[in-house]
Amino acid sequence: MHTRGCTEIYEAFELLAAKDIDLQQETYRRFFHLCPEAQGLMGHSDEPMRGRMLEQTYELLMDAELQGPGNYFRWEIRNHVSAYGVTEPMYLLFFQALEQAIAQALGQAWTRRMATAWQQRVEDLMQEVVGA
Ligand code: HEM
Repeated sequence: MHTRGCTEIYEAFELLAAKDIDLQQETYRRFFHLCPEAQGLMGHSDEPMRGRMLEQTYELLMDAELQGPGNYFRWEIRNHVSAYGVTEPMYLLFFQALEQAIAQALGQAWTRRMATAWQQRVEDLMQEVVGA
């Protein structure tokens, strides 16, 4: 199981929580900008649904136990692909949108170390997306 990056990402989310920053609006705004197709797929989704999706994504970024065969993430990907028509590149763009929102929210507190950790974590999760 890949756990690299989880610790630094956890730190970043702690900083966000301490500042009481909510990333939801900014993340989805950026996501739909990077990926207009995703806006088409999620056009009917309400704020609470978007919030639950984002919460699950935070969990996944911080907790490596949620990936791997038979685990939550693989199940979620298959479900997304078959039920909603989500594609692999959309996942990458979603992670990118979230990273941009975090980097903007944290400013200087978003360190190079965190950015590298993020890159590694997303790499590992994207392998899971491709292999699901
Ligand atoms: C790590 C990545 C992702 C995770 C963990 C995740 C998780 C979730 C969860 C938990 C829900 C159900 C929320 C609820 O109703 O309680 C959901 C719904 C949905 N997700 Fe994702 N998601 C991810 C990425 C994506 C991406 C990249 C797309 C691309 C557009 C997407 C499109 C959707 C759609 C269309 C729905 C259903 C919306 C609706 O019911 O109106 N998701 N996702």
